[in-house]
Amino acid sequence: MKRILVTGAAGQIGSDLVPALRAKYGNENVVAAAHATPLPAHVRGSGPHATVDVGEPAALRRALREHRVDTLYHLGSILSVLAEKQRHLSWRVNFEGLHNVLEASVEHDLKCVVVPSSIAAFGPETPADDTPNDTIQRPTTSYGISKVFGELMGNYYHRALGLDVRGVRLPGIVSWATEPTAGTTDYAVAIFYGAILNERYACYLEPDTRLPMMYMPDAIGALMQVAEAEGSALRHRADFNVGAMSFTPAELADSLRKRIPAFRMEYEVDPVRQAIADSWPNSLDDSAAREEWGWKPRYDMEAMVDDMLVHLKRKLRPD
Ligand SMILES: NC(=O)c1ccc[n+]([C@@H]2O[C@H](COP(=O)([O-])OP(=O)(O)OC[C@H]3O[C@@H](n4cnc5c(N)ncnc54)[C@H](O)[C@@H]3O)[C@@H](O)[C@H]2O)c1
Repeated sequence: MKRILVTGAAGQIGSDLVPALRAKYGNENVVAAAHATPLPAHVRGSGPHATVDVGEPAALRRALREHRVDTLYHLGSILSVLAEKQRHLSWRVNFEGLHNVLEASVEHDLKCVVVPSSIAAFGPETPADDTPNDTIQRPTTSYGISKVFGELMGNYYHRALGLDVRGVRLPGIVSWATEPTAGTTDYAVAIFYGAILNERYACYLEPDTRLPMMYMPDAIGALMQVAEAEGSALRHRADFNVGAMSFTPAELADSLRKRIPAFRMEYEVDPVRQAIADSWPNSLDDSAAREEWGWKPRYDMEAMVDDMLVHLKRKLRPD
């Protein structure tokens, strides 16, 4: 049985990933490691937890040793919008923190380390439609540069040191359990809160900004599936494109209006987030992930909208 530790477990993805890992590998075998953000009750109450700042190598090593960890999901991160504002914090967590994680993983002879990358690893020179897995990247954000760093370092640690680092380039993630923090694609979650609570939402991206997106159950599936994939079948490691759906704010608003006819979308464009979004792909070619480890998403936009509304209405209006 695996012994897993998840860094950044209190985040948007961690708070869904930890329960999924616990359901598969046993509650006692999955350690939820948080820093600064408190763990949500359903994560804290259902298995072991720890406090781990990935900027502190000693704390990281201690947690790996004390919990006899053999598999690490490294989600601790500063996302795109905050990373642009807080360069030093971004350096400490997204660059130094990743380096600390890789070094500690080598020292503790871990079997597998999963490091999510992002569509932010691409830039304005990348072909925007059906972006190939292997193409020009040259991101223009601090966060994006850290994601390319993560991919290259992951591949390097595998090749040079035999550490099995794996990763997928996640698109914008839509989910209902925990709200996103500081991402460029957060509008695609916030719009549901606006629609359910006030029947309106002011979007910070232009109506026709097309971005790749994914519903959380598929993101969890991608992270767990790539970790379980047969190593000998992999030609890529830390840099798989994974696609699911692509839509614009206007298309998502139309889809919501079909279910909530009074819903109104306004646009108050934020130039910082718009510029980041404009540098990212419109859609991804994920044939490498499909061929090498059988990637297949389950949710398209309409199925995602239906499911989000069911769960969020229950969460926001329990009676
Ligand atoms: N959410 C998305 O849309 C999305 C898209 C693509 C990739 N990703 C990637 O997935 C991973 C998880 O993202 P998320 O959406 O859950 O982010 P999030 O911001 O919701 O969570 C990240 C967590 O990292 C923690 N953290 C911050 N500094 C830390 C430190 N020094 N040590 C340990 N933990 C620290 C934060 O407290 C937070 O709980 C990140 O690598 C992110 O880049 C996310």
